[in-house]
Amino acid sequence: MAEEDITVLMDEKRIFKPSKDFVEKTNVKQWMKEHNIDSLEELYKKTDDYKWFWKEMADEILEFYEPYDNVLDWDSPFAKWFTGGKYNIVHDALDKHAKGPNKDKVAYYFESEPGDADKELTYHDLYVEVNKLANAMKKLGIKKGDRVGIYMPMIAELPIAMLATAKLGAVHSVVFSGFSAQAFRDRVNDCEAKLVITCDSFYRRGKKVPLKSQTDEALEDAPTVEHSIVYKRTGDEVDWTDDRDLWWNEIVKDEPEECETVKTDANDPLFFLYTSGTTGKPKGIIHAHAGYALGTATTLKWVFDIKDDDVYWCAADIGWITGHSYIVYAPLILGSSSIIYEGAPNHPGPDRWWEIVEKYKVSVLYTSPTSVRLFMKFGEEWPEKHNLNSLRLLGSVGEPINPEAWMWYYKHIGGEKCQIMDTWWQTETGHFAITPLPLTPLKPGSATKSFPGVSADVYNENGEPITNAGGNLVLTHPWPGMLRGIYKNPERYRNTYWSKFDDIYLAGDVTRKDSDGYFWIQGRADDVLNVSGHRIGNSEVESALVSHDKVAESAVVGKPHDLKGESITAYVVLKTNVEPSDALKQELRTHVGEEVGKIARPDEIWFVTDVPKTRSGKIMRRVIRSKALGKEVGDTSTLANPEAVDEIDKAQ
Ligand code: PRX
Repeated sequence: MAEEDITVLMDEKRIFKPSKDFVEKTNVKQWMKEHNIDSLEELYKKTDDYKWFWKEMADEILEFYEPYDNVLDWDSPFAKWFTGGKYNIVHDALDKHAKGPNKDKVAYYFESEPGDADKELTYHDLYVEVNKLANAMKKLGIKKGDRVGIYMPMIAELPIAMLATAKLGAVHSVVFSGFSAQAFRDRVNDCEAKLVITCDSFYRRGKKVPLKSQTDEALEDAPTVEHSIVYKRTGDEVDWTDDRDLWWNEIVKDEPEECETVKTDANDPLFFLYTSGTTGKPKGIIHAHAGYALGTATTLKWVFDIKDDDVYWCAADIGWITGHSYIVYAPLILGSSSIIYEGAPNHPGPDRWWEIVEKYKVSVLYTSPTSVRLFMKFGEEWPEKHNLNSLRLLGSVGEPINPEAWMWYYKHIGGEKCQIMDTWWQTETGHFAITPLPLTPLKPGSATKSFPGVSADVYNENGEPITNAGGNLVLTHPWPGMLRGIYKNPERYRNTYWSKFDDIYLAGDVTRKDSDGYFWIQGRADDVLNVSGHRIGNSEVESALVSHDKVAESAVVGKPHDLKGESITAYVVLKTNVEPSDALKQELRTHVGEEVGKIARPDEIWFVTDVPKTRSGKIMRRVIRSKALGKEVGDTSTLANPEAVDEIDKAQ
């Protein structure tokens, strides 16, 4: 596409409208008809009464064991949804289907990377597998409220482990399998897990990743963990600790196929998921059963318009919130059929994804701008080899999608007939907060408007709503899938999200709202990197670097990157008498990979003798970033060491 066109798009001149025929058949339109709502404007207006809206949706989607008394109890900043209700998400996600008309419907098509372990699991199959594992976990003493650390790749057993944990009323804490042993250990220790679940190894880009040995390393210093359940994925030989390790396949063998689901309270915790913040260690974000179930299922039903015959593919990793909400819980609650793919997008060739879309006749595909840009780089000849006609809706998440990638996705994947749902949300929001509906006229690059029943706005520093200027993205009232806190840290919860504006949720993103009320997300306001759609704390990478015995100090900033959104650049101060060298740079990259995970390895490392700091000793990343990008640095009079700015220049 010509650059001119892109500029036009940025000027918001082009609008993509869905066909009338398509709109008429959507779930949301159906609902509007049932509620005598004629237009989108009316829908937004009517759902301003958000408690009414969420109650309507709860009555439609959720099945409680015992009815709730109140839709919302809001004692800012702590919310309780559906108080008094007895509810377990596993009932809606699994039990009701296994006993109902979806019994023999496929819940998951599992596609292994080398094709050695592909399988289909019906809702009944999934139910049996979950029950057997839950029974085995019960024997290990797992009960309501216990934490279970899960370190597994993209295989069907990952949702099974999550559901078995939730079935017992226990709390899962899934750690992305691309994270290091150290990162897993930190999270297991923070949540004081009693049990961990992992596998021997798995395939990624043709190679085996030895997850069991990484787990062993993590458990060397994890005093609360009593047992480790190991799923046999590849059959590789692994080290074994007799009084701790148990083969999944053996412990479930003789367990009964039924297991009663624990009737938890609607607000009991379902899971923790760790996410990066500006300072300190990752935050254990808490999500609870009923509100989360409602928010995720409603948004999926309306935004991706999930129908009974859809084959839905959210190509994220379950280790992140996208996978928790939109591979595991929401699709299962809606009784849909979805795909779990183990491997890399370009293995064995750059058309692996398109092969999968063709093979399973995928109708809804949800991915990230990073992946779209990767496929753009490979070229349109790869999707062109395959019949992608089954697709009817596309989605994007994780970072702003640039209009060029939007257009490529629209044209070469969607065949110019699929609307693109650019969904803005966060680990903390649990589900889409700003997103188009399938009837929304789209402006490429904008996530459009708040989902009905969620209310976003842009505030200036004084807490006044502003239009057509960058400001603080906020959510102005509670929503059902909202985080309930940070594990063991209510003060940090209050300070991070609820203290800048009273009773208003601060998302931490800089955003502009245009004259039509469309939101344009511009990126994070704080020092958090967004690499390939995943948040990584600058401070995490910095502390990983400093943990190397040759490093005294470091400062890490993000730079715009064509494929990844942001790349990581690190400025490193070495200890005295350590010689800088290229080999050391490589060693540091590997070290960060081991400490945090490969995704966090710096793309560039520069050795400096000092990094710019304030008088209170805070690293001035803003100054460093400007220098790194060759921009004007501005006033440096507040710096304790202005000469360090020149150091940055000299280094690169
Ligand atoms: O900066 C926003 C960006 O990703 C952040 C949330 O990251 P995380 O909790 O890891 O969850 C990612 C998947 C939900 C947000 O604060 N972000 C997410 N979606 C979008 C986005 N930025 C622009 N457009 C989006 N659609």
